[in-house]
Amino acid sequence: MTKRSGRVGTGGGVAIALLIAFPAAAQTGQSASGYKAPVISDTGRLKGPRQPIFFRHDIHAGQDQIPCLYCHSTVTISSEPGIPAVQTCFGCHQMIGGSTPSHQAEIKKVREAWADKRPPEWTRVHALPGFVRFPHQRHIKILGTESCITCHGDVRSMPQVYQVATLKMGWCVNCHVQHSVSRDCTVCHY
Ligand code: HEC
Ligand code: HEC
Ligand code: HEC
Ligand code: HEC
Ligand code: HEC
Repeated sequence: MTKRSGRVGTGGGVAIALLIAFPAAAQTGQSASGYKAPVISDTGRLKGPRQPIFFRHDIHAGQDQIPCLYCHSTVTISSEPGIPAVQTCFGCHQMIGGSTPSHQAEIKKVREAWADKRPPEWTRVHALPGFVRFPHQRHIKILGTESCITCHGDVRSMPQVYQVATLKMGWCVNCHVQHSVSRDCTVCHY
């Protein structure tokens, strides 16, 4: 499993600004969507690699409806969507300590990561071989910012992210055929 080297901060005083900009619902922990993420007691049965902090997309992106681009902010402009710095997390978790003991225990890890300037080493879920090129921004431009679900499945309902598509060459080429995109070998291979 490959690890990422994460970041602590983005270098600016954005944390406070984000907190103000964000819907009150996300700050109070009340559901903005009406969807209530389930209580999970047995994390060992979840699909996907176990992460250093039990960060739940079903709570953040599902229940609290934080937009994908709030955290993966470079997906429309870069080949890499970006994994948020701890500063982005701390912008909310300076105030939000968690409503249950298990949430509190995991959020404590976020606060410690911030205090110790030691970002979590998230385990990568999706990884293409090095000889394949995949520019996110080109796809989002044509397929739209709501298209994540097409390739990643319904991440908003995932307590732990897992891979849904095969990411095999045939999968890529099928969609390129449907959209009349070039299938020259050099489009995807260096
Ligand atoms: C509050 C911040 C936040 C929001 C909002 C968010 N994510 Fe994430 N996302 C993360 C973090 C942190 C990780 C790395 C840890 C993990 O895999 O759970 C991640 C990982 C992922 C991964 C796996 C990356 C890999 O390693 O291959 C995918 C796919 C993903 N997010 C898609 C989405 C989609 C789609 C949405 C919107 C429906 C979304 N995320 C909303 C923070 C966020
Ligand atoms: C926009 C505000 C916001 C941001 C940004 C945010 N969170 Fe949260 N987070 C929440 C809310 C609201 C809850 C629910 C608190 C509760 O009811 O216990 C929560 C819950 C959690 C929990 C406990 C539930 C769970 O997911 O297991 C963890 C751990 C957590 N957040 C980690 C993170 C990490 C890591 C980041 C950055 C990648 C992050 N959060 C970014 C608002 C935010
Ligand atoms: C056309 C398919 C497709 C779409 C649409 C798509 N992705 Fe991806 N995503 C991928 C593939 C393929 C990878 C693996 C890329 C690699 O390993 O280089 C990936 C990787 C990721 C990663 C991990 C990247 C990293 O650096 O660790 C995140 C996060 C992610 N996608 C988020 C998103 C979000 C958010 C959206 C929607 C705004 C989205 N993706 C839309 C196919 C897609
Ligand atoms: C859901 C459909 C879909 C899937 C799946 C998909 N693509 Fe694409 N891809 C597109 C579309 C649509 C475009 C056209 C973007 C444009 O016209 O600029 C594109 C464009 C590209 C480009 C840029 C082409 C150029 O002319 O420079 C590359 C590179 C690429 N895709 C690689 C991949 C790889 C590698 C995979 C599999 C890991 C993949 N794509 C999977 C729909 C898809
Ligand atoms: C739309 C993107 C795309 C195009 C076009 C494409 N490939 Fe691939 N190719 C991939 C991806 C993704 C992988 C890695 C996943 C896999 O092995 O299926 C791959 C893997 C490969 C491999 C390694 C297979 C293995 O088993 O290790 C070879 C060889 C290859 N491609 C040759 C080609 C040739 C030759 C062409 C032109 C006729 C081509 N590819 C066109 C996306 C593409």
